[in-house]
Amino acid sequence: MITDQKILGEGLGFDDVLLVPQRSSIRSRFSGEISTAARVVRGVPEIQIPILSANMDTVTGWKMATTMALGGAFGVIHRFMSIEEQVKEVRRVKERMRVMEDHPPVIPASATIADARRLLRERERGYVIVHAGESFNGSFLGIATPRDFDAGASDTPLDQIMTPLERMWTVPPGTTLEGAVDVMKQRRIEKIPIVDEAGHLVGVYTMKDHEYYQHYPHASLDAKGRLLVGAAIGVQEGDIERALRLVEAEVDVLVLDIAHGELDYTQEILRRLKITERVTTPIAAGNVATIDGARYVRDCGADGVKVGVGPGYVCETRDVAGVGIPQITAILNAAKAFQNDQERIPIIGDGGIRKPGDVAKAIAAGADTIMIGSLLAGTEESPGEAVEQDGILKKMVRGMASASAFEKRRALGESTTSAEDYVPEGRTTFTPYKGKASKVLKKLRGGLLSGMSYSNARSISEMHEHAQFVIVKNPLGPEQRRPLQS
Ligand code: XMP
Repeated sequence: MITDQKILGEGLGFDDVLLVPQRSSIRSRFSGEISTAARVVRGVPEIQIPILSANMDTVTGWKMATTMALGGAFGVIHRFMSIEEQVKEVRRVKERMRVMEDHPPVIPASATIADARRLLRERERGYVIVHAGESFNGSFLGIATPRDFDAGASDTPLDQIMTPLERMWTVPPGTTLEGAVDVMKQRRIEKIPIVDEAGHLVGVYTMKDHEYYQHYPHASLDAKGRLLVGAAIGVQEGDIERALRLVEAEVDVLVLDIAHGELDYTQEILRRLKITERVTTPIAAGNVATIDGARYVRDCGADGVKVGVGPGYVCETRDVAGVGIPQITAILNAAKAFQNDQERIPIIGDGGIRKPGDVAKAIAAGADTIMIGSLLAGTEESPGEAVEQDGILKKMVRGMASASAFEKRRALGESTTSAEDYVPEGRTTFTPYKGKASKVLKKLRGGLLSGMSYSNARSISEMHEHAQFVIVKNPLGPEQRRPLQS
């Protein structure tokens, strides 16, 4: 009797299952018949590649998040930095491109070339809007670009070197980006202000933004055509302030980052943010691995659930705490938890992906997207430099519960526990340098398309419906699993 109650069943990891080949009418996985578009969380536009880069400090900063979103995936910026730094990183991603610039860098005509250069560095733009008086009220005098700066010394006032409004081409409000591009091409100009009848600046279109859209047709974009980005928050008192500042910076998704998402904290933080602070930005929460865990997070009001307790490459939770659920079972549990929901919240399968086939398996089990840490840690875009070890270029990857990450968290005031008392549940290691993250994305998406084609699934929801598994009696334990070679 006791044994029946104690043992809840068997758990399946990625290597314990294989997808069953199905009768399929899909001609080819390359024919464009399959869509991998997926929901990250409730309330955010779909992305084209169902992959999220993990909120780990050796995986996702602004560079990784930008690359992920440009390629059609999604990045979650880690939280192991000051609020100011994290806000800055989110802003950098959001500032990368937009259909129309409605907050251009503005500067008074009395400011100097040196002032304008400083503003451009801050805002990472190629022009400034020059206005009369001290504050900008919509009316403007002209535009100045770095090319104009060459015409004067650094203390020259901008009104002496700018291109004045009378000599500029403009378009009226309502003009599309494509319409504006036609004018810019005809006039051989790089940017064009949108100006209303009263002479007020409504926004600016640039050729650069247009080129981004051409170059990255699958980019993950918000309603204003800016890259989507997520950011992690914790459960300390200061994290409410962190969340509010990130929301102000227009982050698209907040990710409540707790190793054990079934804590009371999840409910407290979600209540405070959603009810007291009236935050409308979607919030994903986790991590959970059981049916009850997934329902708890959903009932706390989360807009997405992060699933995975212990499957990560640098995780040691299973060894140290003896806790975990193999990842296929964990995802199946979340899918079961929501199976009768009218509008089920998306499931993020977090951790354990070592090979492209694991992505297809995670999605077949019910995940909408998967989150990846170590496979992306060795890429050009992950934070940190590559180092040479035994003649091989490598990059560091560390668990966020590792001893070295804990040192950093202590320095940030996140914990008062002493280093001697801390018991790490993560490790630090080095992973071979893999070049561009887009290469990893391509490989993972390729595997997913193939898995979907074998499963006769033209969409992620068809994959959820059609895919079936067989259980493999795997002679290799999880420790022997081979990581993906680049
Ligand atoms: P992969 O396998 O893609 O997994 O590297 C990434 C996920 O691992 C989790 N993570 C940890 N889990 N101790 C843990 O038990 C840690 O120190 C740790 N650091 C990261 C996290 O969910 C991440 O997304």
